[in-house]
Amino acid sequence: MKKARDLKELDRIFGKYLGKKGKITILLKNLKSLPKEKRKRRGKELNLLKEFIEKEIEEKAKEIKEKLTAEILKKEKIDITAPGKKISPGHLHPLTQVQRKVEEIFQSMGFSIVEGPEIETEWYNFDALNIPKDHPARDMWNTLWLKPQNQKSKIKNQKLLLRTHTSPVQVRYMEKHNPPLRIIVPGRVFRHEATDSSHETNFYHIEGLMVDKNVSVANFKAIIQKFYQKFFSASAKGYGGPAEASREGGERQIEIRLIPCYFPFTEPSFEVDITCLACGGKGCPACQKTGWMEMMGAGMVHPAVFKNSGLTPHQYIGGGWQGFAFGMGLDRLAMMKYKINDIRLFYSGDLRFLNQF
Ligand code: FA5
Repeated sequence: MKKARDLKELDRIFGKYLGKKGKITILLKNLKSLPKEKRKRRGKELNLLKEFIEKEIEEKAKEIKEKLTAEILKKEKIDITAPGKKISPGHLHPLTQVQRKVEEIFQSMGFSIVEGPEIETEWYNFDALNIPKDHPARDMWNTLWLKPQNQKSKIKNQKLLLRTHTSPVQVRYMEKHNPPLRIIVPGRVFRHEATDSSHETNFYHIEGLMVDKNVSVANFKAIIQKFYQKFFSASAKGYGGPAEASREGGERQIEIRLIPCYFPFTEPSFEVDITCLACGGKGCPACQKTGWMEMMGAGMVHPAVFKNSGLTPHQYIGGGWQGFAFGMGLDRLAMMKYKINDIRLFYSGDLRFLNQF
């Protein structure tokens, strides 16, 4: 017993003598076959022996348990003076950082931030924006339509899709808010198209909408120019291209150009380009070697959009409400800010890329 090394061995010894079929248990059971005098004497002896074994086992078990606890304590000892393990905290994704910067700048110019749903109805994404029924953008090769069984019963007779732009929020917002208004709408958009260095199927837009009595293209140009100056000044690090050549009051001068184009929901419409900051206007994969980067679509809000938003005609005809809207690619903005020549890097999940921001 004294040599037992662990509780298991001790258990075995207990069983051997005092268990159900243990030697002493059997002897005690057989006492009744002995003559009375002998039974008394033998009974006393056996009980003394039983008590002795029980006591010995108990003491040995205590000793083993103490030894075990001491060993565990020794092994698991915590050194509270040891330096802690370093947890790397991570940081915001570059696209989130850029979105926050954009929001900060527009907020400083009186714009509020508004959000809209990523799953949109055909009405808000296309019809309300005056996009004709046969417009190629509605084609399933451009738009990711949801299968009818995934549609919520609440929106009857409406086809659902993953929004292709944030412009539907123009209508959603004007339905509930009367002008004058200034909003930006950051959000994820989806397109069914081939990817390349400047195109993704899942990317981000920032919609802008300003409606008032006398808003003109001149206001749009001034606001957007100011925005780019503030945005790129915050990031200007060692860039030596033409856009950096002149600075005004510490703010970087960004060259922009407005090119006439067509959107059914604005009239007139234009595309806004800036000098490609990834290559300084020399031409690179990001700008498809043109030296310019298309940053946004924009224009003056079309009367049909006001009408579809529930604003009655007298409010916009004859000196009534008018405004501009724009939709810029957030990813492209981030590409220009950090001189990244492939949009797909943002979605690669590659820590070697992400750790740089
Ligand atoms: C639109 O989506 C319009 N809704 C913009 C608009 C809003 C016009 C309000 C007028 C008034 P467009 O398809 O050009 O327009 O996209 C806007 C911007 O998103 C582009 O200028 C570009 O910067 C970016 N963009 C477009 N397609 C992609 C893509 N596949 N990947 C990444 N960025 C893209």
